[in-house]
Amino acid sequence: MTIAILNGPNLNMLGKRNPAHYGQMTLDELDNYIDQTFIDVDFIFFQSNHEGQMIDFLQSAQFDGLVINAGAYTHTSIALRDALESIDKIKVEVHLSNIYEREAFRKVNYIKDVVDASFFGKKAQSYVEAITYILEKLS
Ligand code: DQA
Repeated sequence: MTIAILNGPNLNMLGKRNPAHYGQMTLDELDNYIDQTFIDVDFIFFQSNHEGQMIDFLQSAQFDGLVINAGAYTHTSIALRDALESIDKIKVEVHLSNIYEREAFRKVNYIKDVVDASFFGKKAQSYVEAITYILEKLS
């Protein structure tokens, strides 16, 4: 079982970036935490600040399930939405923060309709819930 964890722009800055919203963990620490929480799962971790690289990843990586934190592209990217729509694997959106309780522009979400579920507002735990959801659906 392989699950891809795709993180978008600025998520490489975790640990330095607004800890009240995003928590204290760096991205490496988050990846390690995920790896150690689900020891029987193979993970592909990929982060990019570039929309096209994220789309290239979605079109080429081999996985059984996908967790995506699209960062700010969540609120702007029809291209990412279209790429996600054509993936016929289980796919789940996550956010560390609660995007529905922040600025109005974060309530705009282009990808929520093309994923199977959304988990948000629980920092690292959002990823744990998303992966648990995928594992339950695939079992
Ligand atoms: C985020 C929320 C987005 O609005 C923001 O642009 C991010 C991170 C989150 O994980 O809470 O970069 O996706």
